[in-house]
Amino acid sequence: MSARLKLAPAAAGARILGLGSSQPERIVTNDELAERVDTSDEWIRERVGIVSRRIAAPETPLVEMAADAGSKAVADAGLSPSDVDTVVVATCTMPNPIPNAAAQVGHRIGISAPGAFDLNAACAGFCYGMGTAADQIRAGSARNVLVIGAEKLSHWIDWDDRSTCIIFADGAGAAVLGPAQAEDEVGVGPLVWGSAGDMHEVIRILDGPGESNAIHQEGQTVFRWATTQIAPIAVRAVEAAGLTLADIDVFVPHQANLRIIDAVARRLRKAGAREDMRIAQDIVHSGNTSSASIPLAIDHMRAAGEISRGDVMLLVGFGAGLSYAGQVVICP
Ligand code: UT7
Repeated sequence: MSARLKLAPAAAGARILGLGSSQPERIVTNDELAERVDTSDEWIRERVGIVSRRIAAPETPLVEMAADAGSKAVADAGLSPSDVDTVVVATCTMPNPIPNAAAQVGHRIGISAPGAFDLNAACAGFCYGMGTAADQIRAGSARNVLVIGAEKLSHWIDWDDRSTCIIFADGAGAAVLGPAQAEDEVGVGPLVWGSAGDMHEVIRILDGPGESNAIHQEGQTVFRWATTQIAPIAVRAVEAAGLTLADIDVFVPHQANLRIIDAVARRLRKAGAREDMRIAQDIVHSGNTSSASIPLAIDHMRAAGEISRGDVMLLVGFGAGLSYAGQVVICP
């Protein structure tokens, strides 16, 4: 007879205990970019919805922003670093793949010997991180997990390419997830995820001979894909949580382009979402920060009093891969 293995005691599920975010001080306006490339404030506002973005100093490492956001989330959760046992950093812009960001971030925050790993699902990374963290907690393999979306896209931008330098920006957002004691305390719904690997070339780092080692995207192709494919994924996430679109108080999509956000929200309203559903528009002053955009938006909306404890929030991330993921969460 084979050995019988003991499993860790399972939890009812996971819930969000705290939130935090961090952005560089430097604000870069559209007019400043127009001094370098052939663009205008009017074009960027109309076509993308960005008014300004935050760009980190060259010497500021990604892990510094991640640790700042992470330690704020731990404090907001009412925990001390020693209460956290796992750190997940969703990122696609580390300057080098080794060492990973998560172990460094845990060390900077003062978390002792956490399980620590990075996760690359590009702009869907935060939702992937939240989903895997919630499942670790539910399975009993982790207790309090710090999930961070952190990006320093400025490191990978060709500042002479007007199709990308006006979009991307830097920042980090974080959430601490912990166990729900009972089923009615569960605050992170099931993850709905997937990918369209046949479209992997439409967002990538060009790194061939003579290429610039910078992010390139086929904007219109991604735009068409996002405006048609993301609403059905969001609906699946709502259904997986046992809810209907009318239950959603707040919609927080990846902040890629205000026109994409509006198009997806219109589709959701046609399918039953309420007119008074609040919609994250953090892109206006944060730009597109990839995996950081969703937690940055949530933290900023909470600070502005636009969302409050108990709100039912629909998250959906999408981007390079192409990868996508969504889930319903309860605002802490
Ligand atoms: O976060 C990961 C997921 N990414 C996304 O979801 C991005 C999705 N795509 C987009 O958001 C949009 O496609 C972009 C914002 C990237 C571009 O906007 P667009 O409305 O699709 O513009 P376009 O690429 O179709 O270009 C239209 C025109 C072109 O000129 P012509 O050929 O019509 O003369 C471009 O050369 O606009 C020109 N253009 C610009 N003009 C002024 C492109 N970039 C700029 C610019 N300023 N920065």
